[in-house]
Amino acid sequence: MAEERITLSVIKADVGGYVGHSSIHPALIDTAKERLSTAKEKGLIVDFHVLRCGDDLELIMTHKKGVDNSDIHELAWNTFVAATEVAKELKLYGAGQDLLSDAFSGNVKGMGPGVAEMEFVERKSEPVIVFMADKTSPGAWNLPLFRIFADPFNTAGLVIDPSMHGGFSFEVLDAKEGKTITLSCPEEMYDLLVLIGSPDRYMIRAVYRKSDNEIGAVASTQRLSYIAGKYVGKDDPVLIVRCQAGMPAVGEVLEGFSFPHLVEGWMRGSHQGPLMPVPFYEANPSRFDGPPRVIAAGFQLAQGRLVGPHDMFDDPSFDEVRRQANIVAEYMRRHGPFQPHRLPLEEMEYTTLPQVMERLKGRFKED
Ligand code: F6R
Ligand code: MG
Ligand code: MG
Repeated sequence: MAEERITLSVIKADVGGYVGHSSIHPALIDTAKERLSTAKEKGLIVDFHVLRCGDDLELIMTHKKGVDNSDIHELAWNTFVAATEVAKELKLYGAGQDLLSDAFSGNVKGMGPGVAEMEFVERKSEPVIVFMADKTSPGAWNLPLFRIFADPFNTAGLVIDPSMHGGFSFEVLDAKEGKTITLSCPEEMYDLLVLIGSPDRYMIRAVYRKSDNEIGAVASTQRLSYIAGKYVGKDDPVLIVRCQAGMPAVGEVLEGFSFPHLVEGWMRGSHQGPLMPVPFYEANPSRFDGPPRVIAAGFQLAQGRLVGPHDMFDDPSFDEVRRQANIVAEYMRRHGPFQPHRLPLEEMEYTTLPQVMERLKGRFKED
């Protein structure tokens, strides 16, 4: 008998902020829970959890329909539409901002929401961690994913666990060209770093264990700014990582976030700032609309049941990382409108450049 496959889908959208872009009103979370519990009763999904990071509503669902399934995507879409209605009633900020289309057409990809999904046969025990970030973009996962799955200074298992010693391969998206490439580590590590060191363009989309091609991680790589051709909101990303028993241990996965590296996002999606790992209740970016946050929800799967969530960054061993993030945030803020705090002109999501250039154009003189 073929072993039963389960799909873990994480689909998220910002459908209204409270207050401003800092957090989410509980009424939106309640609405999403109602919708998903009805779907669970009907047997469409096996289990679910609704969380939020900053102003992003996060739907974590298990089901047996595989990735890119239109019923599941439609459920997520309708849930976001219902939450948008509530957001409009309460006049929450940016109600429906990530829903770029008026009608659902089969798959939420390209319609605004962010999606990370993976299908697998549940192992004897299946620990997974769902990472959710706010005020940043999908390239933010590049550095931690590299450290978790390719860096022996982060992940001891790459060196000492025979089941991981063969390494992992990385599927990388070129968001500009719309192409993907898979690179194998450790052999092609330097090639991989050439690409993913530019996270504004190249983003790790998935990671596989080379010995058996088992999926280890999958990230949302939607970029709203490319989808809509102009800035329409943030593409705050999500990431799913499987842990233990031939995958990086829970502690090795979390260790990937022990350095508050600089990511794009923060105020107006137009600045570099440190990614701060926080417990659920601290995911309310407020200083200069930031600094960018990441939360980690741990689950044990049991026949698709999501046993959890356990709040993985709610641990004093991350206090020092948060303190360092605050120091870096202060240091970056002192640059004000100067790069590298402010993004280069072409990477900013708000820009007054065309208007300014139009006004000044006659005043530039040959040098
Ligand atoms: C960044 C973000 C916020 C807004 C900022 C201005 O991702 O969402 O920093 O860009 O608060 O928002 P608006 O233009 O809506 O006033
Ligand atoms: Mg928002
Ligand atoms: Mg957001």
